[in-house]
Amino acid sequence: MSERTIALVTGANKGIGYEIAAGLGALGWSVGVGARDDRRRLAAVEKLRAAGVDAFGVPLDVTDDASVTAAVQLIEDRAGRLDVLVNNAAITGGMPQEPTRVDPATIRTVVETNVIGVIRVTNAMLPLLRRSASPRIVNMSSSVGSLTRQSATGGEQSIGPVAVAYAPSKTFLNAVTLQYVRELSGTNILINVGCPGYVATDLNGFRGVRTPEQGAAIAVKLATLPDDGPTGQFFEDAGPVPW
Ligand SMILES: NC(=O)c1ccc[n+]([C@@H]2O[C@H](COP(=O)([O-])OP(=O)(O)OC[C@H]3O[C@@H](n4cnc5c(N)ncnc54)[C@H](OP(=O)(O)O)[C@@H]3O)[C@@H](O)[C@H]2O)c1
Repeated sequence: MSERTIALVTGANKGIGYEIAAGLGALGWSVGVGARDDRRRLAAVEKLRAAGVDAFGVPLDVTDDASVTAAVQLIEDRAGRLDVLVNNAAITGGMPQEPTRVDPATIRTVVETNVIGVIRVTNAMLPLLRRSASPRIVNMSSSVGSLTRQSATGGEQSIGPVAVAYAPSKTFLNAVTLQYVRELSGTNILINVGCPGYVATDLNGFRGVRTPEQGAAIAVKLATLPDDGPTGQFFEDAGPVPW
């Protein structure tokens, strides 16, 4: 087994996921770059390696059982365990997403990636995570999934546009995370939810105001929590986010 800490970041070929991989790699960790597109994955791995990161490619479509099973095998063969899983991959499903006009297929697609994809990857990786001395799971969510914030008065700056697929998918993910926390209480696995803030990426047509590196910081922090660190919490850089 490798002495280095082993991490897997889903959706790591671009945006915040790429910077999470870079941030964890800068710690000297071995980082699996989970990405579904061969060309984009290879380019990201090459760029990370050029920056000195011990990066390796992990073909991974979070909506595909066979792909996830193969990703487990790849990490098993390479490292024999997994220390940190960052569930970062997500889609918005496209905007606008007004509840009165939405195509139900959009909701299904978004939930399949943003919620079921996380469950699929987490459950597949759990046997490898259980072999770690200090396993961590970080679920990248969003403050737009906060029911407290959605129901408070505020502008799009803090709660995003009306989005009946994307925003509730993050609320769903938050709720799912808490069920994992309950089932895995008493184990050494720390599971937390992070919000990167409003970051300029493909996800929002680069309208965000933060850099992907700034957005990655909360994930790096939650991936590197000490053994007595929090679990079952929802954080942004400024501190806890209300559910
Ligand atoms: N940007 C923001 O302002 C913001 C705010 C709050 C939360 N977040 C969250 O932060 C995370 C990263 O978002 P981002 O802004 O960096 O978005 P992004 O630039 O669009 O990147 C999303 C990543 O997810 C991947 N992905 C999508 N579907 C996938 C699938 N089925 N299997 C594997 N990978 C898949 C994409 O791969 P492809 O390149 O192949 O499409 C891409 O690598 C997401 O969870 C997002 O919800 C972002």
